[in-house]
Amino acid sequence: MTSSTHEDGPSNRSKVFQPWSHKGLALRNRIVMAPMTRRMALADGLVTKESVAYYARRAKGEVGLIVSEGTAIDDLHAYDTITVPRVQTPEQWDAWKRVVDAIHTEGGAFAPQLWHTGRLAADPIGPSGGPGVPRADGTRRPDIREMGPDDFRQVLDAFRNAARGTLQMGADALEIHGAHGYLLDSFLSPVNNQRNDEYGGSLENRMRFPLEVVREIRSVVGPDFPVLYRFSQWKMDDYREQKFQNPNDLEQWVVALADAGVDILHASTRDAREPAFEGHGPLTLAGWSEKLSGLPTVAVGKVSVTLGMDESYGTSPSEVVDPGPWLDLVERNECSLLAVGRALIANPDWVAKVRSGKWETLRPYEKEMLKTLE
Ligand SMILES: Cc1cc2nc3c(=O)[nH]c(=O)nc-3n(C[C@H](O)[C@H](O)[C@H](O)COP(=O)(O)O)c2cc1C
Repeated sequence: MTSSTHEDGPSNRSKVFQPWSHKGLALRNRIVMAPMTRRMALADGLVTKESVAYYARRAKGEVGLIVSEGTAIDDLHAYDTITVPRVQTPEQWDAWKRVVDAIHTEGGAFAPQLWHTGRLAADPIGPSGGPGVPRADGTRRPDIREMGPDDFRQVLDAFRNAARGTLQMGADALEIHGAHGYLLDSFLSPVNNQRNDEYGGSLENRMRFPLEVVREIRSVVGPDFPVLYRFSQWKMDDYREQKFQNPNDLEQWVVALADAGVDILHASTRDAREPAFEGHGPLTLAGWSEKLSGLPTVAVGKVSVTLGMDESYGTSPSEVVDPGPWLDLVERNECSLLAVGRALIANPDWVAKVRSGKWETLRPYEKEMLKTLE
């Protein structure tokens, strides 16, 4: 790893801050705003003018691609609180369009993150039934109901509808939320998916439903609209879960995503620099994914912050660190794009500061910042 510029003045990084394009998605640089749930929508699922301003500030701050907070598709089991913005009705699409227009005015690009919370919903469903998952506050969610044929149809229809809404709002791409223990991710997990039909058992079977979702969405948006898919090893209720035991498992998954019509992978890790597999060298999850699938991949995790994801809601003190080692992942072609999460909540102007070598002037992220939409 090379060291980064510490002194004031332009960054010596040639790639991260240069324009990038793929499949018609043209970005002014390779920095992505990671999707971050803020629970600030109105009870009818509409994003507010405060959200418009919040996203516009990050676009004005020169973020290349902004991925929205998870936005719930049209199913009662797709969200956990009514203040999660939704992507179900023309009114909700119009509200998102105001976000899209504001981002475009500032020269940024936008992708909504289509979300079904599944086993982590207020009224949970999943590939298999089971006891409710504990919440962070120690209470327990209701029991999980096993999905039947009607649920499968309903979820596919809801993703189709959300894909139509995405086109309607004028977004530049869409991201499927297939990570962190929510519905699609739980199909991949051998712990959460105990089915003995064609959707459970082997990895091939566990991949089946997420891949059906990708194909449904692709059939709505057509061949040319950029589709991202976010996946992870970890889940909200188990940071140590490993769905892919080795590079072969991962290859089966990422190649299948590419074949089903995904254009860009988003490998969600808690630290983008971590080696993905013990005993298989230093390559990261994004690095392996890009190498095995041939698809451009977004890396994410801990860029310029000291807190791990498991501590993000805790009270540990937060500090700013040199983002250089993360930017180097892009410089040395280990990933194509780099997503920044909490550091962008604290610093709407993160790109400008880091590009000009002034990372030391970044504000540390604090949990308190989640209370407002600054
Ligand atoms: C407040 C908060 C909300 C989040 N909500 C989402 C979400 O809606 N969808 C998602 O895929 N990830 C979500 N994440 C995970 C982030 O996208 C990102 O992967 C994580 O914060 C690690 O990046 P960072 O270390 O740069 O913050 C959330 C993270 C935080 C801190």
